[in-house]
Amino acid sequence: MFFLCLLLTFSVGRAGTISSPNGDFQLSFSLNGKGTPVYELRYKGKTLIGESEMGFDIHAGYNLKKNFELVDEQADSKDEVWHPVMGEQKDIRNRYNEYFVALKQDSTGFQMNLRFRVFDDGLGFRYEFPVQPILRHFIVKKEYTQFNLGEDYKAFWMPGDFDSNEYPTNTSKLSEIRGMMDQAKKEGLACQSFAEGLAVQTPLMLKSPEGVYVNIHEAALINYPAMVLNVDDQDFMLSAQLAPDYEGNKAYLQTGSVSPWRTIVASDDARDILASNLILNLNDPTDYSDTSWIKPCKYIGVWWEYFTGGGSTWAYSDELNIRIGETDYTKLKPNGHHGANTEHVKEYIDFAAANGFDAVLVEGWNEGWEDNWAYMKEHIYSFTKAYPDFDVEELHRYAASKGVKIIMHHETTSSVIDYEHQMKDAFQFMVDNGYSAVKTGYVGKIIPRGEHHDGQWMVNHYLNVVKTAADYKVMVNSHEAVRPTGLNRTYPNWIAQESARGTEFESFNGNRPDHTTILPFTRLMGGPMDYTPGIFEGDLSVYGNNKAKLSSTLTGQLALYVTMYSPLQMAADLIENYKKYPDAFQFIKDVAVDWDETHILEAEPGDYVTIARKAKGKDAWFVGGVNDENARVATVDFSFLPKGEKYLATIYEDGKDADWQTNPKSYNIRTVKVTSKTVLKERLARSGGFAISVFPAK
Ligand code: NOJ
Ligand code: CA
Repeated sequence: MFFLCLLLTFSVGRAGTISSPNGDFQLSFSLNGKGTPVYELRYKGKTLIGESEMGFDIHAGYNLKKNFELVDEQADSKDEVWHPVMGEQKDIRNRYNEYFVALKQDSTGFQMNLRFRVFDDGLGFRYEFPVQPILRHFIVKKEYTQFNLGEDYKAFWMPGDFDSNEYPTNTSKLSEIRGMMDQAKKEGLACQSFAEGLAVQTPLMLKSPEGVYVNIHEAALINYPAMVLNVDDQDFMLSAQLAPDYEGNKAYLQTGSVSPWRTIVASDDARDILASNLILNLNDPTDYSDTSWIKPCKYIGVWWEYFTGGGSTWAYSDELNIRIGETDYTKLKPNGHHGANTEHVKEYIDFAAANGFDAVLVEGWNEGWEDNWAYMKEHIYSFTKAYPDFDVEELHRYAASKGVKIIMHHETTSSVIDYEHQMKDAFQFMVDNGYSAVKTGYVGKIIPRGEHHDGQWMVNHYLNVVKTAADYKVMVNSHEAVRPTGLNRTYPNWIAQESARGTEFESFNGNRPDHTTILPFTRLMGGPMDYTPGIFEGDLSVYGNNKAKLSSTLTGQLALYVTMYSPLQMAADLIENYKKYPDAFQFIKDVAVDWDETHILEAEPGDYVTIARKAKGKDAWFVGGVNDENARVATVDFSFLPKGEKYLATIYEDGKDADWQTNPKSYNIRTVKVTSKTVLKERLARSGGFAISVFPAK
C-alpha cells in the first residue's frame, strides 16, 4: 500500500499522477471543467505533451467525451523479463507503472475506463469499454485523442492515406507540411484514399526544437481501424483520425472490449527510440502453446526478375478472355517467358541449397495472373491450382531432397472475400505440398468495395488470415497490409510484413537516398519489415529499357540485413549477380536473422543508423551502418563484445571512389582483429553503407 501511494497522487477524485520507474516521465490525468478526460506527459521535468483531450463520438448523437465523473482509480506496476519466439534480443524487459481510472457519465450512465502505462521510454494508454447495463453494441463515429506537442517539431511524415503506406517519407517542420502535401500526394500508387484535411500516418517520427525525439504510433491494433494523425499547424496539436468504412463509420464495438494502445516513445537520444520495446510490451504474450514450427528464414526468390524489365512474367499466357474456373490452362498457348516454371525454380532451389538459404519464394505459380492487375475484379486467382509448367509435386520432392522450403505466394489483388472463401483450402494445399510460409498481397482496391486496407474490416481480415494460418502451422508475410503494431509478439507466425515502400520501388519510381535511415524510426517501430534488400546490380538498364537506378551503394545493401530488423530476410537480386560478386555475397550467406542482443551504436533519423547485433545462440556478431546522401564517417565502438576475447572482423565497405549515383558497385573487403576495446572509423560514401561480420579468432 505504501508503494502504491508513492506511485500515485490522488487529488480530490478528479486527477492522478504517475511516474515511469526511472522517473524520467510523468503522466498526469484529470477531468477538465467539462468533465472531459485529459492527460499530460512530462519528460525530464519539462512538458512534452501538453494537456490533451480524450474521448469519442458514438452512434445516435451520444458521446464518450464529456460530463464524466471519476468513480475509481487504481495503480499497479510490473517488472518482468520475457523471451520472444524470434526477435532483436532474447530477453525483453517489461517494466512500467500503471494508472487505471474508471469514468461514468451521469447523464447517460455510460462507463468508460482508461489505462495508462508509463515506461522508462514513454507512455501507452488505451480506452476500455466495460460491460455495462445501458451500452452494449455501439459505433465509433470519431475518436478525439489528442497529442498536444505545442511546438513546431521536425517531422518524418507520409500523407494520411487509408489504403497505402508506400509513400516516400518527407522531412519538414510541422508548419511546412501544408505547403508540401499536394506534391507528397502525387505518387503513382496502386490504391490511394486520402484522409480528410491535413493528416499524416503513424508511426510518426518527430524531433522537437530542443532535440527531444518523439515517436507516435499504436500497439495491438485489433478489431479497430488504424489511426492517422490530423495536424493542427497553428497550435501544433495532433489528433486521431480513424480509417472509415463505406458508411463513414469507424468501428463497430461491443462493450467488454478495449481500443488499441496509443503510444508515445520519447528520448533526448535517438538511439533509445530504436532500442524501445514499448510497443511489443503493450501487446499480449503469445497464446500459441507450441511455437516450435515458427522459424526465422533467409530466402531467395523468383521475384526480382519480374521487376527488372528483363521480360520474365508472373503470367503463363498472353491470351485474352481467361476466366478462373472455366479456362483449361493446359489448352492455352504459353507466352514463353513465365518465371515460375519447374526448371527455373529448380535453379533457385539449387542455389539456395548451395548457399545455405532456408527457402525460395515463388511468385506467379498459380492460375490467374493473366488478368493483369484487373483491379476491383472478383475471382482472379486460384490458390490451389498451379500453372501447367509448375509441377507442384516434383518441386515438393526436389526442394525437400535439398533441404529447402518453397514459400507460397497468395496475391489477392485485394479480392478479399474471394480469398477468405479459398483460404482454408489454400492452407491445406500448402500443408499437403510441404509449404510452411506464405507471402500474401493486397495490391489495389479492397473487395468488399468501399472498404479500406486500414479499416476495421480489413484489420480483422489480416489477423484472421494469421490465426487461420497458425491452425495449419503456416507463417505469414503480408504485403500491403495495415502497418504493424507489435502483434508479432502475440502471433509470432506473422513473421514479417511489407506495409511500407520496399525495394520493389527501386525498379519504378525509386527510393530516396535517406529512405533506409528513416524506416527504422517509422515503419519498423511496429514490427519486422520484409524490405527485400540485397540488390547488387542497381542499374536496371542492363536488362532492357528500365532506366531505374538503386538508391544505395552495394555495401549499403549489405548493411540493411542488420539495420532493418526482420526474422525473414530476402536476398532479392538475381542469382547471376550474386555469382558475379561472390566475396560480397559472403556477407549475406553469413548474416544471421534472429538475435540474442541488439546494440544501437549511432542513430539520427534521416541521416544515419549504425546497429550491432549478436546472432541467436552463436558467438557471431554483425554490424551494419547506413547513411543519407551525405558521405560520413561512422564510429564503431566494439565495446558490445565480451571482454578479453579476440575476434576477426570482416569489413565490407564502400570503395574510396564509391558513390550511389556514379559508382555504386565500388567496394572493399578487409579483415581486422578486434576486441571489446576496438573503436573503428568507417567511411560511408554518399548513400552508402558498410557491413561487418565478427567471428571468434581461432
Ligand atoms: C506487391 C508486393 O509488394 C510485391 O512483392 C509482389 O511481387 C507484387 N505485389 C505481386 O504480388
Ligand atoms: Ca508492395
